[in-house]
Amino acid sequence: ARIVVLISGTGSNLAALLEAQRSDAEASAGSAQERGSYEIVGVVADRDAAGLAHAAEAGIPTSVVRLKDHADRAAWDDALAREVSALAPDLVVLAGFMKLIGAPLLTAHPGRIINTHPALLPSFPGAHGVRDALAHGVKVTGASVIEVDPGVDTGRILAQRAVDVLDGDTEESLHERIKAVEREMLVEVVRERACSLAR
Ligand code: GRF
Repeated sequence: ARIVVLISGTGSNLAALLEAQRSDAEASAGSAQERGSYEIVGVVADRDAAGLAHAAEAGIPTSVVRLKDHADRAAWDDALAREVSALAPDLVVLAGFMKLIGAPLLTAHPGRIINTHPALLPSFPGAHGVRDALAHGVKVTGASVIEVDPGVDTGRILAQRAVDVLDGDTEESLHERIKAVEREMLVEVVRERACSLAR
């Protein structure tokens, strides 16, 4: 299956997907299609994200679609959809992409866009899930992988894993522990989806 990954930050989830792709390729010969695994065919960011380096190192095409380079949000939505669709993805993975996906991309790939979120949705949606959970005083939080719909983190939940909040946790320490769980779960969901798409 052809995967396009969208990022905005360090790309630790992208790095995990690349690592799993490499180990799958070593584990069994044959093309990604035959072994039902996946191939990341492009990485698109909305800014000069540090995570783009992971793709560049792997020789994967990257592109940046900046909001400020476009007349307005609708034009940016169109440009992002064109950039992603040009890569003919079977699955689009938002891995730390910090913008909402507009109608052009959603309608181009219905049911084929997934997102990872560092909280147990429907709790703590939005851009500060870790900070909000910590501030609320929860003892357990976690990570969720969802199907992207027009809402903010409101799509169908595909997978979740719990992460304990420890005394003295800061947003950073808690987020690092969540990210460790998040990337494992994302790789599993992408592999499962790739297999079902290959059938
Ligand atoms: C991830 O926890 C993602 O769920 C959240 O921001 C973080 C991005 O991490 N939106 P990275 O860019 O994949 O390292």
